[in-house]
Amino acid sequence: MKAGRFPLARPRRNRFDDFTRRLVAETSLGINNLIWPIFFTEGTNTVTEVASMPGVHRVTLDRLAAHVEPAAKLGIPAVALFPVTPMEVRDAEGTEALNPDNLMCRAARLLKKEFPNVGLIGDVALDPYTSHGHDGVIRDGYVVNEESVTILTQQTINQAAAGVDIIAPSDMMDGRIGTMRMALDEAGLLNTRIMSYAAKYASAFYGPFRDALGSGGMLKGDKKTYQMDPANSDEALREVEMDIAEGADMVMVKPGMPYLDIIRRVRDTFAVPTYAYQVSGEYAMLMAAIRNGWLDHERAVMESLLAFRRAGANGILTYFAVEAAERIKQTYGV
Ligand code: PBG
Repeated sequence: MKAGRFPLARPRRNRFDDFTRRLVAETSLGINNLIWPIFFTEGTNTVTEVASMPGVHRVTLDRLAAHVEPAAKLGIPAVALFPVTPMEVRDAEGTEALNPDNLMCRAARLLKKEFPNVGLIGDVALDPYTSHGHDGVIRDGYVVNEESVTILTQQTINQAAAGVDIIAPSDMMDGRIGTMRMALDEAGLLNTRIMSYAAKYASAFYGPFRDALGSGGMLKGDKKTYQMDPANSDEALREVEMDIAEGADMVMVKPGMPYLDIIRRVRDTFAVPTYAYQVSGEYAMLMAAIRNGWLDHERAVMESLLAFRRAGANGILTYFAVEAAERIKQTYGV
């Protein structure tokens, strides 16, 4: 046998042309992998841009259907709802979270009627409703567990009754998933799904979101007694394991890009539907560089989203969902 020219194995052959690259691609990003977080407010006829999130808007309820329509038309499977609750109804106990006619419930009813095929994901936590910006209630300076879980469970039922399909507890209290699951089942809401923010870190990357919600300036202290320490990875597996045991149907890792290692470990260990949240600070960071002409908009955004898929995420909550879906549609015509 005649010796070939060294090297015989050439990885570059599979990168030679576009069709080969497509043929050997291990992962892909589709419209079905996208979830779009949206912000809405009271009032009428107003759309305001979130200063630290160029391209992300808060819309009044009368504009919500028009806001969601492009996402529905593109076939984005679900939107995540974030109400910007008026300051006057926020209090220390987050009472407004339990009002069946609160902004969140009205938005859910409206969207369910307008777009029955778009899944509604409801964030369960008290921060849009509390005067102190924490996700639970405070006793003696501490966000207490059991009392918070009781209120959050009532919030869960309130949202599910208004038409929220997937309850997404983002509060990080212990035992909340099991308590919420039992309450949903007792209320006959057997098919209301739970997407648990299972591994949610006490992160600096939520800053722009808190601006969008108006809870940033109000937040007293930090969330380190309930959200996870960014130093930890094994602990994320324990959190996920407990949430699955308590009845979570899907789990989430949050933030996204700095935590791709966690997504990979969760997916490899549990093989449950796993989602990643590319949070507000990640969006702000990318957009700041894009706006400065330092990164190519399309390539940077699409690469960041594909990386989540490669890390093992079934889907991504991303403020780029609509533009990503548009690009996917242009490229693949789907
Ligand atoms: C509420 C909640 C937060 C985010 C989603 N749900 C903020 C927080 O935990 O302080 C952050 C989302 C983002 O930054 O895009 N508990």
